Amino acid sequence: MPARPIVAIPGPTPVRAEILSALAQPTLGHPQAAFVEIYRRTIGVLTELTGAHRFVVAGGAGTLAMEMAVVNALSPGERLLVVSHGLFGDRFAAIAQSHGIEVRRLVPEAAGQAVRPEDLAVALEEGGFGAVTITHVDTSTGVLAPVTSYLPAVQRSGALLILDGVCATGGIEEPMAAWGVDYLVTTSQKALGVPPGFALLGVSRRALGKRSAMTGPVGGYYSDVLNWLPVMEDPGAYFATPPVNLVVALDRGLELVLEEGLERRIDRHRRQGRAMQAAWRALGLTAVPAPGLEAPTLSVLRYPDGVEDAAFRSAAEAEGALVAGGVGQLKGQVFRVGHMGNVTRGELLAVVAAVECALASCGHPVESGCGVAAAQAVLAEPVASVPGR
Ligand SMILES: Cc1ncc(COP(=O)(O)O)c(C=O)c1O
Repeated sequence: MPARPIVAIPGPTPVRAEILSALAQPTLGHPQAAFVEIYRRTIGVLTELTGAHRFVVAGGAGTLAMEMAVVNALSPGERLLVVSHGLFGDRFAAIAQSHGIEVRRLVPEAAGQAVRPEDLAVALEEGGFGAVTITHVDTSTGVLAPVTSYLPAVQRSGALLILDGVCATGGIEEPMAAWGVDYLVTTSQKALGVPPGFALLGVSRRALGKRSAMTGPVGGYYSDVLNWLPVMEDPGAYFATPPVNLVVALDRGLELVLEEGLERRIDRHRRQGRAMQAAWRALGLTAVPAPGLEAPTLSVLRYPDGVEDAAFRSAAEAEGALVAGGVGQLKGQVFRVGHMGNVTRGELLAVVAAVECALASCGHPVESGCGVAAAQAVLAEPVASVPGR
C-alpha cells in the first residue's frame, strides 16, 4: 500500500505544497499588522471572486456557513423552501427546523434527478416563503442543480436565495449578483483546494437589509453576521480569534486561483468532469446523476453487481486512491470520487488507474487501461484557455 494515497474523496481535496508550507509558517498574532493585511486580502479576494456585497471569513466548516445563512435570513416561525437533491439539501431542512423555522422540502422523483423548475414555481406561488435553499452540487448524489432554470421563479417570489456552493465555489460558475444569490454558503476544502476549517459566506445587500430589520433574537451569537461584518471591514478588530495559520494558507490558495484565473479554472473543472465521466463510461460504470446533471467537481458511481463497497474502497486505497463511500440513502450502493480544486492531470489519471485495478480485483471485468485512455483523450484536447496542468 502506498504510504499516502491520493485523496480523491470529494473534499478535502489534494493540497499543494505551497499551501501546506504557508500553513506551517510561525503563527502570527491576529492583531499583528502582517496578519491583518493577509486577512483583509482574503476577504477582498473572496468578495471579488463571488461578486458578494460583503463576505464573511470565519473559522468553522461548511455546515456552520449553512447555519449562518439560515439564521440570518429567517426568524423562527418564518417559512423556508428547501430544494433538496440529497443529504446536503436535507441538511438545510434539519438546520432550519432546529431553529424553529417552518420547512417545506421539494425533492425529485429519484436520487440523481433534479427538482423540476415548474414544481418549484408552483410551490413558490403558494407564497409565504422567506427564503429558498438550493444546493449547487449535492455531494451525496453528484447532482449539479440547474440553478439558472430556477431563478425566474425564485426572483418572482421575492424570497431570499441561499445557494450552497460548498462543492462548487472556485470550480463552477456561480455569480452571486447576476443570479440574485443572497447568501452564498461555501468553504475551503473542495474546489478552492485549501485545508478544511472555514465557514465562508457571501452576503448580498438585500440579505443584509433583511438581517438589519430583524427585531427578534438571531439563532446564534457566533453565527450572527452583524457580529462579523465590523471585523470584515476592519480585520484588525476582534470578534472571535481567526484561525490565523489557516487564513495564511487560504491567502496562498486564493493567490493560486487568481494566478490561474477563475474562468480558466472553471473551464479546467468542466474538462476534468468530462474526462472522468468518459473514464467511468469506458469502465462500464453508471453515474447516479441523470444525463446532463453530472457535476464537474465529483462523480457518484453505482457499484456494478458483485462489487462490495468496503472491499472495493480498500482495494482502491491499496492501489493509491482514497475514494469515498456513499452517504444517506445511497450508502453502500455507490462510491464517490472528487475531481476538483488543485488536482493535477497526473493525479486524475492515477485515480482512474487505481479504480480500474480495484474493480478488476473485485471481480468486475475491465479492459486494462481503457478508463485511463478515455480520460486522457479528453484531458489532451487542445483548449487554449486551459493551462497545461
Ligand atoms: C454540498 C455540501 N454542503 C455542505 C457540506 C458541509 O460542509 P462541512 O463538511 O465542511 O461542514 C458539504 C460537505 O461535504 C457539502 O458537500
